[in-house]
Amino acid sequence: MEYRGYDSAGIALVNNGKLNIYKKKGKVAILEESNIGEDLNGTIAIGHTRWATHGEPSDRNAHPHQSAGGSLAIIHNGIIENYGSIKEELTAKGYTFNSDTDTEVLLNFIEDIRKNNECSLEEALRIALKRIVGAYCILIVDQQDPDTILAARKGSPLVIGIGKGEHFLASDATPIIEYTKEVVYVNDYQIAIVKRDELVLKNLGNERETPFITRLDMELAAIEKGGYQHFMLKEIFEQPGTIYDCLRGRLQPEHGLITMGGVDAYLENLVKAQRIIIVACGTSWHAGLVAEYMIEEYCRIPVEVEYASEFRYRNPVINPGDVIIAISQSGETADTLVALENAKEKGAIIFGVVNAVGSSIARMSHAGAYTHSGPEIGVASTKAFTGQLAVLNMMALKIAYAKGTIDPEVYHSLLTELNQIPDKVAQILKNTDAIKAIAEKYAGASDFLFLGRGYNFPVALEGALKLKEISYIHAEGYPAAEMKHGPIALVDENLPVVFVATRDRFYEKIVSNVQEIKARKGKIICIVTEGDTHIPAMADDVIFVPDTPEALGPMLSVVPLQLLSYYTGLAKGIDVDKPRNLAKSVTVE
Ligand code: AGP
Repeated sequence: MEYRGYDSAGIALVNNGKLNIYKKKGKVAILEESNIGEDLNGTIAIGHTRWATHGEPSDRNAHPHQSAGGSLAIIHNGIIENYGSIKEELTAKGYTFNSDTDTEVLLNFIEDIRKNNECSLEEALRIALKRIVGAYCILIVDQQDPDTILAARKGSPLVIGIGKGEHFLASDATPIIEYTKEVVYVNDYQIAIVKRDELVLKNLGNERETPFITRLDMELAAIEKGGYQHFMLKEIFEQPGTIYDCLRGRLQPEHGLITMGGVDAYLENLVKAQRIIIVACGTSWHAGLVAEYMIEEYCRIPVEVEYASEFRYRNPVINPGDVIIAISQSGETADTLVALENAKEKGAIIFGVVNAVGSSIARMSHAGAYTHSGPEIGVASTKAFTGQLAVLNMMALKIAYAKGTIDPEVYHSLLTELNQIPDKVAQILKNTDAIKAIAEKYAGASDFLFLGRGYNFPVALEGALKLKEISYIHAEGYPAAEMKHGPIALVDENLPVVFVATRDRFYEKIVSNVQEIKARKGKIICIVTEGDTHIPAMADDVIFVPDTPEALGPMLSVVPLQLLSYYTGLAKGIDVDKPRNLAKSVTVE
């Protein structure tokens, strides 16, 4: 679970009726070191990598938390929003707390209910869950019951692996595939009573529900580095294959066909849509911005690209039948998930573009398309981004063709070009050393600007985000023409400015923008189309990418920016797979 991002870690083991808890601020390796020689045996155990919400990263706020009575331990992914009022109730009853966390409050609340109602732990949990507000995936062990783990979920992900005489519970399937491929994705408002050889699922009404077993289509190798120094570098180099996997079985340029089951099922809704709303966060939001350009240009349908967290609370106008495209690598991002639940209640059609198979957004969407990028372990999203673009491009072309808003010749040539993207990405990757040299040259910079126009504007935003995430250098992405309305004031000989300036309808315009920066001594790094000699003549550093139609360009021009951020982070000695303060899947609002 390390890859999901965290700031402290801990485990609780039940061994012969004794509960041992070990927890520490910092990496799992520190936790291991600090508990050498301790009793690490047990029949059941729970462990947690924490990403601080309530209470700063510290040993006392790390999970698991122990109940005041001492027999219970809990781990929790999520936020209990009404923990303050519950804490007051418990404090009034004489409870004291060892941490600042909402989680410890929840555990003592459950213990108190069990004591006062003289009921089972399972019943106490059910009662407590009806009182709390928020998102949670919680696991509880009781030293008095060394054969059971109690689990419950609402909003935060939980998957249970079915083994032979053993069970595994985790936030996602990656730590489980080593032991079993048979898993159950737990739904919201379900409680799981898990024993060595029994799994019972119940709803909050105490009714049993049949576990739906899914067979994982994932190999262990997919979550190993495969000889690369970092997952991020491995995932960047996997892109020729992952884009190919995303197109395979869907794109048949020779027959002018795009086959996507989810799109086919809702093609009429998509073609007739009065508007399309794209909802996402971070890198996925940037993919949405590229899709906006594509869908408006070829499908002639107005598109709004929304930050999920703002969209959720802005009380947007959603009409029944409106189409919402939800883009998410993990399929578990809380901001996106809650925004979609809200829109679904208002009658919108939810179309998911997701990478993680079986994830919450995939399961709550009416239809969708997986990006087939394989598990993405590095916190910085790379191969999932190009996978999202491949899916969104195919969707836009399919809708446009069905709608008759695209010239058939253009349609067929774009299909042919799309089919060549994997090879063109492979070409770019051959130039890695040159990009590494540029990264090392500017690794000492304190600020960066990324500029682009048209389809390249979202790529500039993505380049800036990648550099921020991986190198901790302050970076901003801007539409190149927007510079003269303010940001150009930042330009001097110390500021590297990255232009995404591939050959497109904006070429002449961006040439002027490059000259504006050059005139103010900014350091110019350009991503240009092979064969371009004009812009390279003005630039300090140049990265060439193969030619392709501008709508498909982002799948190529982003790759050098992924490498630029990777090698800058590497040059600065940063743990690029697990950058500070970031989580791979942000499961709290
Ligand atoms: C991207 O590198 C980041 N990891 C982050 O911005 C991410 O894109 C965002 O949290 C959305 O995640 P999702 O695609 O899993 O929903």
